[in-house]
Amino acid sequence: MAKSTLSFICQNCGAAYNRWQGKCDSCGEWNTLAEEDTTGSVPVSIRSKRKGRTFALESLSGKTQDAPRLSSGMAELDRVTGGGFVRGSVLLVGGDPGIGKSTLLTQATSMMARAGHRAVYISGEEAVAQVRLRAERLGLADAPVQLASETSVEDIVSTLSEGAVPRLIVIDSIQTMWTDTVESAPGTVTQVRASAQALIRFAKKTGATIILVGHVTKDGQIAGPRVVEHMVDAVLSFEGEGSQQFRILRSAKNRFGATDEIGVFEMTGLGLREVTNPSELFLSERELGSPGTAVFAGIEGTRPVLVELQALVAPTSLGTPRRAVVGWDPSRLSMVLAVLEAHCGVKLSGHDVYLNVAGGLRIQEPAADLAAAAALVSSLVNAPLPTDAVYFGEISLSGAIRPVAQTPARLKEALKLGFGRAILPESARGDGGGDSGLALNTVGNLTTLVAEIAARGTPRGGRAAPRDDQGGSSAADPVEKNATPARFRRETS
Ligand code: TYD
Ligand code: MG
Repeated sequence: MAKSTLSFICQNCGAAYNRWQGKCDSCGEWNTLAEEDTTGSVPVSIRSKRKGRTFALESLSGKTQDAPRLSSGMAELDRVTGGGFVRGSVLLVGGDPGIGKSTLLTQATSMMARAGHRAVYISGEEAVAQVRLRAERLGLADAPVQLASETSVEDIVSTLSEGAVPRLIVIDSIQTMWTDTVESAPGTVTQVRASAQALIRFAKKTGATIILVGHVTKDGQIAGPRVVEHMVDAVLSFEGEGSQQFRILRSAKNRFGATDEIGVFEMTGLGLREVTNPSELFLSERELGSPGTAVFAGIEGTRPVLVELQALVAPTSLGTPRRAVVGWDPSRLSMVLAVLEAHCGVKLSGHDVYLNVAGGLRIQEPAADLAAAAALVSSLVNAPLPTDAVYFGEISLSGAIRPVAQTPARLKEALKLGFGRAILPESARGDGGGDSGLALNTVGNLTTLVAEIAARGTPRGGRAAPRDDQGGSSAADPVEKNATPARFRRETS
């Protein structure tokens, strides 16, 4: 008889240890180690008697079944999944409570059902009547979706094994599911993992696509074991600011497509509306002509997206000035501030700095550096930037503006939305930007841009007086004269 082996398994990441410890070295979580028997779940008596089964080995070039992908009927959802649902794949959709996960998936199942596919919606959180009520509100009550309010995985699997194989199964949510095979209570790590495993096995066996809804913890992680994220084929997160109507579906992992595509939706009284031109939406509430705003011509996946960056630079009353950023990488902001200080003579150590990406979008591209710097300087010297200009370019630590990819796509989108000029890296003209129809202001160095913006600066009325007045001053310099920031110096002079 095989010796039973006990080890301590982290319930968060699945790392194994041979003694207990308070903190998992692998994922850094506390109190997640639990003792588990890792001998294997199959009884030894069966294992030892079982003969190996032979199976056919296939070639890589063999024919696959038809229609490996099935469109969800929602173009924005298809964009994020990489072109539709893959047969037998399992997706995990996470998001804050109330963000619209159930709404999105009710709409997707209804679309599939209306297209003649068997689509099933299993809710473990809401009663059938509640789901019906939502469907009615969405105007989808007539869609032939198969609906149930169930939480037992075994019951769900045996019910769905009957009849035609469902093309889409939504499980809302994985945290409410439980299986007989493990003892612990629903919602615990072991239950979530075992339930997910059973459902994934069902998907792989039948070819049905399963979407699992996952709750997120306060810091935005999908609750439960990280191993669920490793088990599924795609992890999507549904994000948005509570106060705004925009919702963004983003993929964190996708075995069948790119992970940088986003799907943009708008929450309306009639459910989620797909937004095919996000730039228009993100720029719709723009306040023209106010200092501290710059339009960034970005790329999300394969699609150009124009978005407004808003900065506020104000004298601080704190010993350590505040640096707050929403929608952008805080370390990227620190870097831009450091370059402004070191190479452009912009002293920001006495100022609070706030940076916000309008519309709830989260930018990851370094190409946003230039727009962020422009917005920051514009706020500091109280000089509005030209309203018809877009900005993009990466700032290097030396203050040089570095080229970024996909210049023509960015310029085309800007032209389409009525912009007249672009402030961009020097090499961009050769990158196919030359015949874009926009006026191109190339900048080789951040110092040039800062000087240009500062030259347009006007005094800011209610700004606090400078506390000290060093920093050199030529009376001719409009910025220095009013000296709100006082520590602003034009390197070029
Ligand atoms: P829901 O899909 O239940 O969120 P989740 O499943 O992610 O918890 O969406 C709930 C919110 O969406 C709720 O606050 C109301 C809003 N909503 C609308 O604004 N319009 C609609 O048509 C629907 C169905 C919901
Ligand atoms: Mg829900």
